[in-house]
Amino acid sequence: MSAPNKSYDPVEVEALKPEAIERMRAEALAAIAAAGDLEALTHVKTAHTGGGSPLALANREIGALPPQAKAEAGKRVGQARGAVNQALAARQAELEAERDARVLVEESVDVTLPYDRRPAGARHPLTTLSERIEDIFTAMGYEVAEGPEVEAEWFNFDALNFPPDHPARETQDTFFVAGPEDGGSGGGESGVVLRTHTSPVQIRALLERELPVYVIAPGRVYRSDELDATHTPVFAQVELLAVDEGLTMADLKGTLDHMVVSLFGEGMTTRLRPNHFPFTEPSAEMDMLCYVCRGESVGNPDRPCRTCSSEGWIELGGCGVVNPRVLTACGVDPEKYSGFAFGFGIERMLMFRHNVEDMRDIVEGDVRFTLPFGMEI
Ligand code: DAH
Repeated sequence: MSAPNKSYDPVEVEALKPEAIERMRAEALAAIAAAGDLEALTHVKTAHTGGGSPLALANREIGALPPQAKAEAGKRVGQARGAVNQALAARQAELEAERDARVLVEESVDVTLPYDRRPAGARHPLTTLSERIEDIFTAMGYEVAEGPEVEAEWFNFDALNFPPDHPARETQDTFFVAGPEDGGSGGGESGVVLRTHTSPVQIRALLERELPVYVIAPGRVYRSDELDATHTPVFAQVELLAVDEGLTMADLKGTLDHMVVSLFGEGMTTRLRPNHFPFTEPSAEMDMLCYVCRGESVGNPDRPCRTCSSEGWIELGGCGVVNPRVLTACGVDPEKYSGFAFGFGIERMLMFRHNVEDMRDIVEGDVRFTLPFGMEI
């Protein structure tokens, strides 16, 4: 570098000659254009704009010029450096865009490819609903009881006080697996049926367990119905039986109310309507308050309710005080013990709880139906 010299002729400073600056600028621009990737461009940047680059060195020479020459040389070098920096920035942007485009292609994920994990499936909503009901009762000390789906006619009908000519025993209602002549179990006279309700589990529970008995028995039952939108020959019921000293209809009512509050929330209640079942006396049909309108749609055309058809109540199933004859058939002293029972199908509850319109969806086992319920445990 030359020392300041007022009489120094700027034309004599090689590095600041217009041709020299032009050459430096041309070389820098060529190198920038030739940089094939961002790393190469970093090297080019250091070589052509860094402290040791020809233009930086030339810039330092300016200080040695006499004042009148400084402006011109400064402008020339400044313009060259400006052009180089501009080209650098443009090339940098270009290379970055190229890189981004390449990364997008190279690292892209094809979301249409089949995935290699097996679908986890989902629990059937009937199972989760029935377990939810079980939980309500096991929390109160009830035990879960079971019985076979292929059941002796004696358990399904006789012990439950169905007379021999009761219409429920007809083949139009009941699937017979074997008649008494085929050697069905249960005392020699009994045939074998697919159980038509979960009530035979009451008999099994009383025969197998010590008193008092508090059981909840969910299970599958069969009736010779056609499969259509509102009927299915296979469905799920939940049965409850409590036998203890001093149990009354009031205990039954309190238990039912507790169940619907647990399932549908505070303010829910049930009502009983007289009915007849051979195995309970008195017997009742049980309804629950419509959990959607809570009865407010009744006589209120401005607020119709689709869930209960504006009736305010939804029919659940049957219940009653255990018939002393049933207790006697199971060796329980009806003078000392009494009990209550109820049973209801849960498909309908599932239907109105989740707006399922066609019962076939529940039984057909299509995962597209069960999957949306899959997160419920
Ligand atoms: N088993 C009856 C049915 O399937 C329902 C039922 C009625 C169950 C009264 C009960 C009861 O336990 O007490 O239609």
